[in-house]
Amino acid sequence: MKEREDKEHHYATTISRLTQLVIFLLALVVILIIALVHYAPNYVPNKKTIEIEPDSNGNFTLEAKQKMLEASLDIVDYWIAPEISALEKNANKNLILYGKDLIEHTANYYGENGSIFKSSTNGMNCQNCHLEAGTKIFGNNYSAVASTYPKYRARSGSIETISKRINDCFERSLNGKAIDTSSKEMKAITAYISWLGKGVPKSEKPAGSGLRDLPFLDRAADPNNGKLVYEQKCKSCHQTNGEGLMNADKTAYTYPPLWGKKSYNTGAGLYRLSTFAKFAKCNMPQNATYDHTQLTDEEAWDVAAFVNSQYHPVKDTKADWPKIEEKPVDHPFGPYQDSFDEKQHKYGPFKPIQKKIMALKDSKKATKE
Ligand code: HEC
Ligand code: HEC
Repeated sequence: MKEREDKEHHYATTISRLTQLVIFLLALVVILIIALVHYAPNYVPNKKTIEIEPDSNGNFTLEAKQKMLEASLDIVDYWIAPEISALEKNANKNLILYGKDLIEHTANYYGENGSIFKSSTNGMNCQNCHLEAGTKIFGNNYSAVASTYPKYRARSGSIETISKRINDCFERSLNGKAIDTSSKEMKAITAYISWLGKGVPKSEKPAGSGLRDLPFLDRAADPNNGKLVYEQKCKSCHQTNGEGLMNADKTAYTYPPLWGKKSYNTGAGLYRLSTFAKFAKCNMPQNATYDHTQLTDEEAWDVAAFVNSQYHPVKDTKADWPKIEEKPVDHPFGPYQDSFDEKQHKYGPFKPIQKKIMALKDSKKATKE
């Protein structure tokens, strides 16, 4: 009797242990499945498939194009600036390093107490706009300069060398005087910029060069809304009066001016709304990057409109864009080949202007043929 009871007891415990084991295994499988579903996408980060359908007419909408652009940005190989340490073996090492210093600390040489030419600029540094000494992705970097200059530029209507382009920034962005093209300083800045872009094949622009494109809004950019953006996201550094803040020993700006007597003039790239908006979108507030932007497209355009509706030193730009058909849609000074006024050319909406310019181009082509 006792023996049989023992046996039955033994079976019972074995069965209950087996059931426990099965339940445990089942639970394990469930947890594994959940974990897989949850984490699996992280194992294949580069296998993003882009599924964007054209509309019924076979066209892609602007949003679809934007999506494709964003998706492609994730898998692009961006330009990488050469390492400074690689200069050790370069015969031009000292000249290149001097050029880098001129870009980072321009005010030490050309600012109010500049060692080379006092007060010949507004006191800004090239680096205030060409971030990280011209190496930051979409931070107005110099990666495409060596590979694309000398080149034809529509603003002057002529072939420009690197030194001509550098002097453009001295005269406009730094609202100052051009420097002697045969000076050691010009040679140094050119040497540094050329060295940065030495790995880029002739005529090519590497991914991430210059500024990243920003789609036009459907409406005009709004300075009133831009004022609110400025107050919330820019004022803390660039100050209530927009004139920036100097460092303690007044040798350079900690926060550079956005408007006022010491800012870029009306002939500068940033005075065009699209250039300002592109720069702000990928770089401001400070520490924003193209992949961690902090402004919506609307905010970028509107704050550009607000800043460029404030006072900037005036530069005579009458000689700019000698070929009227090459004027960009957002050049705020006439005359124009179309009938839109200066206000719309400054603030937009730009799409109707762009459409008109394309139509004019097509009709010119047609009359030629
Ligand atoms: C206030 C801002 C600002 C400052 C300061 C500034 N630049 Fe520029 N620079 C620009 C903008 C904006 C562009 C044009 C970007 C565009 O249209 O894509 C530009 C373009 C250039 C280019 C041509 C880049 C290219 O890829 O075609 C060079 C070279 C250049 N700057 C050099 C300098 C140098 C050197 C200094 C200092 C002496 C300087 N810049 C100071 C704003 C500035
Ligand atoms: C946390 C501080 C900070 C905030 C906030 C900030 N900036 Fe800047 N900004 C800077 C600094 C610093 C530079 C110069 C970068 C350098 O020298 O490396 C700069 C440079 C600029 C420049 C180019 C130089 C010039 O003065 O023309 C523009 C344009 C600009 N900022 C616009 C904006 C806008 C628009 C906003 C708000 C959306 C903004 N910034 C918010 C710190 C800031």
